[in-house]
Amino acid sequence: MTYPQRLTAPTLALLLFGMAAGAPAADAGKGAEIATNVCAACHGADGNSPVPTFPNLAGQQPSYLTKELQDYKSGKRASEVMAPFAASLSDADIANLAAHFSTQKPAPGTVTRPELLTRGKKLYFEGNPDSGVPSCDSCHEANGAGANNGGFPRIASQHVDYTLEQFKLYAGNKRMNGKRVMRTIASRLSEEETLALAEYLASMP
Ligand code: HEC
Ligand code: HEC
Repeated sequence: MTYPQRLTAPTLALLLFGMAAGAPAADAGKGAEIATNVCAACHGADGNSPVPTFPNLAGQQPSYLTKELQDYKSGKRASEVMAPFAASLSDADIANLAAHFSTQKPAPGTVTRPELLTRGKKLYFEGNPDSGVPSCDSCHEANGAGANNGGFPRIASQHVDYTLEQFKLYAGNKRMNGKRVMRTIASRLSEEETLALAEYLASMP
């Protein structure tokens, strides 16, 4: 490895020390600043989005937030809306934003078709053995909070419209940055099942 010649010994020492110390701790305060200035109009400054087609980010798992933002930035997760915003974020910005949104309190979701909740709950905990759909709680936990370890996102209290759109993208092989499992699941769900599940997720606190 070569360093530019004008690098002084103290700078070099700092650089090497920084490398050894690894990434600096994320700063949720700096994340909150970017959230207020850049993300708030669509996701809400606290990650509770005012529009049902824009996902809630409050309480989302930090490892998932980090990965998705990196994937929007690299283009692995395709979104015309998110790409330009993600492109301008540094790795530190992304870590700070993940620290901010993951520690915000999720607002309750909005259920629009309460008659589907019983069906949705059964699917969530039992899947559909006839069509080979696994239960959701095995990965997303019984309360829908997901898990930071393993990259399982929080799906509880999410907007119905956003969830339905993601099922559509998975089933159509248009959301390709993750593991295969969600594409398989989405392609096996009937339209009514996706509706019932989306409503049930919105009902979870
Ligand atoms: C103009 C509206 C808009 C702005 C501004 C915006 N987003 Fe988004 N965001 C969206 C939409 C729409 C999606 C869903 C895209 C998709 O389907 O992949 C999304 C998705 C996301 C996701 C994925 C959520 C999930 O559950 O998978 C994250 C994380 C995210 N945005 C973070 C941010 C951050 C951080 C900022 C500010 C730097 C920001 N967004 C600015 C509209 C916006
Ligand atoms: C084997 C583990 C696993 C199972 C079972 C599973 N998921 Fe997922 N799910 C994931 C992972 C990992 C992701 C992260 C994104 C990706 O890989 O595309 C995800 C993403 C999602 C998303 C997108 C979240 C967002 O914010 O964009 C939704 C919605 C979802 N899952 C719903 C469900 C439902 C409903 C079920 C049950 C029918 C289910 N999942 C079963 C692992 C699983």
